[in-house]
Amino acid sequence: PESITVQELANRMAEKGADLVKSLFKMGTAVTLNQPIDQDTAELLVEEFGHRIQRVSDADVEIGIEGDVDAPETLQQRAPVVTIMGHVDHGKTSLLDALRGTDVVAGESGGITQHIGAYQVTTKGGEVITFLDTPGHEAFSEMRARGANVTDIVILVVAADDGLMPQTIEAINHTKAAGVPMIVAINKCDKPEANPQKVRERLLEHEIVVEDMGGEVQDVQVSALKKTGLDELIEKILLQAEVMELSANPDRAAEGNVIEAQLDKGRGAVATVLVRKGVLKVGDTFVIGAESGKVRALVNDKGQNVKTAGPSTPVEVLGLSGVPRAGDQLTVVENEARAREVAAYRQEQATKKRTTSAPTSFEHMFSALN
Ligand code: GTP
Ligand code: MG
Repeated sequence: PESITVQELANRMAEKGADLVKSLFKMGTAVTLNQPIDQDTAELLVEEFGHRIQRVSDADVEIGIEGDVDAPETLQQRAPVVTIMGHVDHGKTSLLDALRGTDVVAGESGGITQHIGAYQVTTKGGEVITFLDTPGHEAFSEMRARGANVTDIVILVVAADDGLMPQTIEAINHTKAAGVPMIVAINKCDKPEANPQKVRERLLEHEIVVEDMGGEVQDVQVSALKKTGLDELIEKILLQAEVMELSANPDRAAEGNVIEAQLDKGRGAVATVLVRKGVLKVGDTFVIGAESGKVRALVNDKGQNVKTAGPSTPVEVLGLSGVPRAGDQLTVVENEARAREVAAYRQEQATKKRTTSAPTSFEHMFSALN
């Protein structure tokens, strides 16, 4: 793996992709976010942004844990991954539930939906959208700081009766810092005291210019309670996703990130993993953070056992040696010896991190340190 895409490098440095593109342009290199750059250029950029370069062990590099780029012809469209953020009580959970209620597949199977921290909705048109249960702003930025920028699109929920509140602004700042496009869902529009226009105006103060105000940020009036505006919101998500041309190579060893993990009575360590690339299969040997394992079972968001999970799919993974942390990377490796080797290496790195005051290694080819 001698190259990395601009976006991936930006993620690792917790910088905006657009800023990297600008910098590269100044250096005389015109590239887009999804284009790979070579290692020398990447190192230059890392220094330019005041970060320190750290190459992790050959073990990590050799198996291509990170920083490897799939050839363009291997890429296939994947579902967008959407996170809902906003102030307390503005209706994030209600909106998620309402959106989940539009899932045509769940309706058919009649299955009991299971809380796995993430779920997929199949729209009337057959498109799939992956939603992450709001992990809280802290978790969002923590995961991002650790190089796990799993969200493609943020939906900012603002209650039309309450307007912009401290956590709304926090969410705006996190989203900006992550360089993730935002769709504003103005919620509780059923309330008599709702004032969506005021929300739009207040957003201007934070440089969020919505379409109605002549800007480019999509906004939509919804009521999670009355279930209005949901189709429009879904349309806007799909439109945004289309512009982004989200893709992944399904035909490779799987990689993913931990959304949440816990020790489950009877089932042992269980992690909800969002698959990013490749297809994760029952029987696969993997490393997950500093833990390793062999996939004993995969459970989807409808509580069904599945044999495989492809890009943008959240699944519960059973068969872990221990409980990983949110944001940890899952990587499928060829055999158990390899898994143990990489896990031991990562554990060693983690110990080093704790015992020295040295800055954190993000287990990436380039770490993003100030
Ligand atoms: P936290 O998880 O505590 O941050 O809250 P939340 O953002 O998830 O809000 P939640 O969905 O729990 O909704 C908070 C309250 O607002 C609940 O009493 C909901 O019933 C109410 N609510 C949510 N959406 C709407 C809506 O569209 N209209 C009205 N009238 N009430 C709503
Ligand atoms: Mg909630």
